[in-house]
Amino acid sequence: MKVGVLTGGGDCPGLNAVIRAVSRRLFARGHDVIGIREGWRGLVDGRFEPLGPREVSGLLPRGGTILGTSRTNPYRVDGGVDAVLEHFRAEGLDALVAIGGEDTLGVGARLYAEHEFPVVGVPKTIDNDLSATDYTFGFDTAVFICTEAIDRLHTTAESHNRVMVVEVMGRHTGWIAVMSGIAGGADMILIPEQPVSIEDACKEIRHRHDRGKDFSIVVVSEGYELEGIADEGDVDEFGHVRLSERGVGAQLASQIEQQTGFETRVTVLGHVQRGGSPTPRDRVLATRYGLKAAELVHAGSFGRMAALHGDQIVDVSLEEATAELKRVPDDWFEVARAFFG
Ligand code: F6P
Repeated sequence: MKVGVLTGGGDCPGLNAVIRAVSRRLFARGHDVIGIREGWRGLVDGRFEPLGPREVSGLLPRGGTILGTSRTNPYRVDGGVDAVLEHFRAEGLDALVAIGGEDTLGVGARLYAEHEFPVVGVPKTIDNDLSATDYTFGFDTAVFICTEAIDRLHTTAESHNRVMVVEVMGRHTGWIAVMSGIAGGADMILIPEQPVSIEDACKEIRHRHDRGKDFSIVVVSEGYELEGIADEGDVDEFGHVRLSERGVGAQLASQIEQQTGFETRVTVLGHVQRGGSPTPRDRVLATRYGLKAAELVHAGSFGRMAALHGDQIVDVSLEEATAELKRVPDDWFEVARAFFG
């Protein structure tokens, strides 16, 4: 078989590790691998590059993606889907491994349902918001980076008796905020799934200060709903607004300072969370996902996605994986809440 591989959506540590694992297993099974440039855009435009053992060597620890990525949605491009199908056929491809989050894999699910397009998915995103898998790769690295930042902010917060607001990514779910907040010992965590009001958050901060603690760390998810902040601005081809533009961290910091009288600063971690080398856990997860995806292709099991259930790598339908967002359940938030105030 001639198998295409693409990486779509926001980049994420571990993408290259998946490309390596998929390719190595496909080579071992006697197949050829073709890299597709910049996600679905590469299939719309017909941009390919063959991947051989040399091209996939040394990729395991490397951040980003050697194939490039984009947020192109062929369903939003004039003639986009026809172009995808035509370039796929003309290149002589027999199967596609799509490595991406809900948007990239959502396109794959739809192409499979509507055109029996031979696609297999691998769940990528620092946001960990994809259903039907316990964890996406890239998430552990993002949590590691945020936790380290929170640790560093602790020492400066303590020295200055300040409230430190840390804004993290995660889009419409609070996975990164909750996990890094628990790991970093945050005194308050605000996420989209739990509508804690600013008043209640300030009450907890005051309570903490009454107990003799002169500083506080507040972790806020970029998608937290703050009164007075609107989702305005450009939307991408999947209909997402750029949440970093809302400035939730800065607004929150100013409201906390006003309501508590405590000096407050904000740190927005931004794309640092997506950069650099994957953690060992993400390298291993990405590798296991890549091998599974290659085996699914080899077996002709299309419309499926590699997934983690407990400690097992399994496969699930792309449809199920992209049907809805996986939100932070209450019991995870309860773990975090035990240390508020
Ligand atoms: O989905 C990954 C993610 O990093 C989100 O957490 C964030 O909202 C978004 O991508 C940022 O996108 P961009 O890289 O286009 O600014």
